[in-house]
Amino acid sequence: MIIEPRMRGFICLTSHPKGCEQNVKNQIEYIKSKGPIEGAKKVLVIGASTGFGLASRITSAFGSDAATIGVFFEKPSAEGKTATPGWYNSAAFESEAHKAGLYAKSINGDAFSNEVKRETLDLIKADLGQVDLVIYSLASPVRTNPKTGVTHRSVLKPIGQTYTNKTVDFHTGKVSEVSIAPANEEDIVNTVEVMGGDDWAMWIEALKNENLLADGATTIAYSYIGPELTEAVYRKGTIGRAKDDLEATAFTITDSLKSIGGRAYVSVNKALVTQSSSAIPVVPLYISLLYKVMKEKGIHEGCIEQIHRLFKDRLYAETILTDEKGRIRIDDWEMREDVQAEVAKLWLETTTETLPAIGDLEGYRNDFLNLFGFELGGIDYKAEANEMVQVESIK
Ligand code: NAI
Ligand code: NA
Repeated sequence: MIIEPRMRGFICLTSHPKGCEQNVKNQIEYIKSKGPIEGAKKVLVIGASTGFGLASRITSAFGSDAATIGVFFEKPSAEGKTATPGWYNSAAFESEAHKAGLYAKSINGDAFSNEVKRETLDLIKADLGQVDLVIYSLASPVRTNPKTGVTHRSVLKPIGQTYTNKTVDFHTGKVSEVSIAPANEEDIVNTVEVMGGDDWAMWIEALKNENLLADGATTIAYSYIGPELTEAVYRKGTIGRAKDDLEATAFTITDSLKSIGGRAYVSVNKALVTQSSSAIPVVPLYISLLYKVMKEKGIHEGCIEQIHRLFKDRLYAETILTDEKGRIRIDDWEMREDVQAEVAKLWLETTTETLPAIGDLEGYRNDFLNLFGFELGGIDYKAEANEMVQVESIK
């Protein structure tokens, strides 16, 4: 069939298999062009199909020749319906990895569940013996805690008072004011349950208990801080509480890995267009101004550039630089004073009329469509595409 983008609110209901494949190939080419990284050889990526997790899998495989197991939650295609982009990305990744002679298998299911953890442990045991790097890159609005059976939904709300600021509908370019009422205690607990460190710790404990972590194994999860502009709704809001919890969990995991000399890290990454971040109010407007400023300064990065720099200059550098809270920072360019000062100034000037000139709304939209495999160079979108992509190594 001929596949076109079909939008509903913040999401795109369709995705293009060829475009997703091209996305993956572009990222692989980028990593190959940068030369080898002395990194881990057996890598488990939880949240491996899109965004930072996919970039981490690609960097491991094509930067360090690593065998990778990917865990994600995606929908395969059905009659007349495309798969989710993460499905096509993973199919393309596996086929490229196999062509390059690299081990790559995936498990498609709920990473929060005992069943998917069990399946993953068994696969590692059978195929790899142990892993030496575990990337934790889940972004989800919902988690059923397997210990209690309770289903928690995360929310994006400020804490303490109503937050009012500008926001943009990036499809129409309309800038308006949005007010978000403060969270209650339950909202905070739920968001920490979903996006905090509990599940990360459960994964590492399960792996360690079955002796599936190699001596000196490393695990890393991704966090965000961001500017003052979004602080009330992001870092000091419900999601920020979850990130505080995730960051604290790195220390408890490191303690638990003492006997094998293992370490847990959190890396604070740059704000980027992903399916998760496009759903956060105010953030798309911030990102479109940020992109404009960073592109003008020649320091713009996407997921693959960020993760390459994380691996090359931080994780596998001679010494691992961290901030005063023990976090790796690859949001350093985003947070530069000159960058933030310019974004803050543009923010005040932003209206529906000024935004096309002072912000990179085009870049935002383009990146958003790219997530679903649309608007990529080299793809004939008028041609029939076979949406039924099957891959044997994805369970
Ligand atoms: P994403 O939405 O692109 O990727 C999420 C991944 O999690 C996908 O592979 C998806 O299949 C998987 N997933 C979701 N629910 C699952 C479940 N129940 N079971 C198994 N897999 C599941 O998100 P993105 O943006 O790459 O986020 C990854 C991490 O990076 C998050 O912790 C996020 O907070 C963090 N981060 C994101 C930033 C951004 O601007 N996008 C900035 C800094 C950090
Ligand atoms: Na991810």
